[in-house]
Amino acid sequence: MKTTFGIIGAGNIGKTVARHLAKAGYAVAISNSKGPESLAGVVADLGESVKAVTAQEAAQADIVILALPWAQLSTLTGLTDWSGKVVIDATNHFVTYAPDFKLADLNGRASSEVVQDFVPGAYVVKAFNTLYFKVLELDPQEGNGKRVIFISGDNAGAKVEVKNAIETIGFAVVDLGTLAASKIQQPNEALASLNLIKL
Ligand SMILES: NC(=O)c1ccc[n+]([C@@H]2O[C@H](COP(=O)([O-])OP(=O)(O)OC[C@H]3O[C@@H](n4cnc5c(N)ncnc54)[C@H](OP(=O)(O)O)[C@@H]3O)[C@@H](O)[C@H]2O)c1
Repeated sequence: MKTTFGIIGAGNIGKTVARHLAKAGYAVAISNSKGPESLAGVVADLGESVKAVTAQEAAQADIVILALPWAQLSTLTGLTDWSGKVVIDATNHFVTYAPDFKLADLNGRASSEVVQDFVPGAYVVKAFNTLYFKVLELDPQEGNGKRVIFISGDNAGAKVEVKNAIETIGFAVVDLGTLAASKIQQPNEALASLNLIKL
């Protein structure tokens, strides 16, 4: 059976990734903190294969995508037993947005290593966090090339699952290595906002 996706956070990034997944025929369950009723308009726009659910229900999918604000990470822990679950971390560690864009102090850790603490036992793969959503929402096919999505993670099997899905929705994947290596994907680092096309 085809992999199912649960998305926690139904804003700019959650909706953008949901749209790509739905276009490729994946079943997507999308959620926010206010409940599925508040997402009626969102799912009507995203199409039939996207349904609105609670965050708890979204956490039951085969692959769970984190697309919520950094300050809300602590709400994830009680949603499910995260052991062995493949989790795509699309978050960035902003504690404030425009105009100051303040980042959380991570004590030298990669932000996804901090995220890992909130989803104990999950196989966390960092992805979809480097591109502004208006770039991410574009057709991933650019001329003869494909837009690159960077991934990092410690579990090889989880990375294969995530890579396959990202390639299925039309992007090229560049694997950067371990979760510790994902620092280079974070805001103000070398790969932030890099819109790379693989020919
Ligand atoms: N915007 C970008 O271009 C971009 C690019 C890369 C990465 N990111 C990162 O992706 C994440 C989301 O950014 P965004 O721009 O999509 O933010 P956004 O548009 O503000 O959307 C955030 C979503 O999360 C939901 N949410 C808030 N608290 C929640 C909780 N406790 N449980 C479940 N859902 C919750 C919000 O809905 P309710 O408030 O109604 O619950 C909203 O649907 C952030 O970590 C951001 O740094 C953003």
